[in-house]
Amino acid sequence: MRMVDLIQNKRDGVRLTREQLYFAIQGYTKGEIPDYQMSAMAMAIYFQGMDEEEIADLTMAMANSGDTVSLAGIRGVKVDKHSTGGVGDKTSLIVVPLVAAAGVPVAKMSGRGLGHTGGTVDKLESISGFRIELPSEQFIRNVNDNKMALVGQSGNLAPADKQLYALRDVTATVNSIPLIASSIMSKKIASGADAIVLDVKVGSGAFMKSLEEAEQLAATMVSIGKSLNRKTIAVLSDMNEPLGTEVGNALEVAEAIEVLRGGGEARLKEICLVLAAHMTVAGGAYPSFEKAREALEGILESGQGLATFRKFVEAQGGDPGIVDDPGLLPQAALQISVRAEKEGYVQAVDAESIGVAAMLLGAGRARKEDAIDYSVGISLRKKVGDPVRFGDVLAVIHSNKDQNQDISGKILDAYTIGEDRPDEVPVVHRVVQ
Ligand code: URA
Repeated sequence: MRMVDLIQNKRDGVRLTREQLYFAIQGYTKGEIPDYQMSAMAMAIYFQGMDEEEIADLTMAMANSGDTVSLAGIRGVKVDKHSTGGVGDKTSLIVVPLVAAAGVPVAKMSGRGLGHTGGTVDKLESISGFRIELPSEQFIRNVNDNKMALVGQSGNLAPADKQLYALRDVTATVNSIPLIASSIMSKKIASGADAIVLDVKVGSGAFMKSLEEAEQLAATMVSIGKSLNRKTIAVLSDMNEPLGTEVGNALEVAEAIEVLRGGGEARLKEICLVLAAHMTVAGGAYPSFEKAREALEGILESGQGLATFRKFVEAQGGDPGIVDDPGLLPQAALQISVRAEKEGYVQAVDAESIGVAAMLLGAGRARKEDAIDYSVGISLRKKVGDPVRFGDVLAVIHSNKDQNQDISGKILDAYTIGEDRPDEVPVVHRVVQ
């Protein structure tokens, strides 16, 4: 077999067989197929697309390109969750303890943030002492004991995806539904889940800017899951404005604790309950979405989710004191108010701009090797639909820098204030299963 023939086939619209896809992916992982040939293949896929069988085969080839995690030592149906990435997205910190408190085991591997989107692993590292790496026996033991553990993705999980993703990033081939769907699903399959709930974000702060694109991506991933015998459900959720009120690592941990205490923003709580309900139904804890949702509201109100979160933090070496006193989390030296310069209603808060502003403060990375300042970020005091008077505080910047005028300007620009109260956009658009 020669890679050049496979590229030519794909270029001309001829479908690739399982053997051909394994040949390409294995060869690329081993360094036998060079970047330039894989780039040409990615571009051919970008233009020609792939059918469902090809996407499932590509997913499996990438899932099998490195280590695969066995969760056989964990009792019950193991349910995983994945978000396609957003700004202020701390849902895992809330959803996983709720699902675990309902008795469904979650053995989750999460990523770090890059660019304007945050990652769960970075948020957890803002807790003093918290370990995101556990020996595999302890990972399994923690899930059996407390129904949850959350660690960073192992270095050799789906290495083909890691290489291909980096290549796509610099060859204008990221935005291809077969490539995104196989990339996400290969990591979920390699990390051993029986069922997968996907939170596909839609809007200015997300990869998928339109509902149509997001629906297509969701349907593709659900179909990959089906053909690989993993129950997969995709929830399409809004990412035009940041999720919740806090953007930044320690700030988001504190906000997640607030929700687990029964408080927090209604939209954030809503998406968390919807995701948790689908996960617990997939895990066999409840017979229907409605029953699951009702039970989870009870779990939230009774504080069982918070108790599970506390045990989880302690089991991974973190200071459980932050649960009772989030003031123990890292705090920035300066708090600077950004004030409204006109009156009206908030029409939009551009998620991507807020994400970039938080990154510039040091909450995220512009490059992989950048260090993170866990204490910094942005608290949004006004969200879409809120009335605003001249001089009202729109947001508070938590900073350790002396100069913050640029950041203030960016945040002010992210707000659109107009005369009329905008129609409410639901946080959950629809569910694909
Ligand atoms: N997230 C991934 O893991 N892969 C993609 O290709 C896009 C988003």
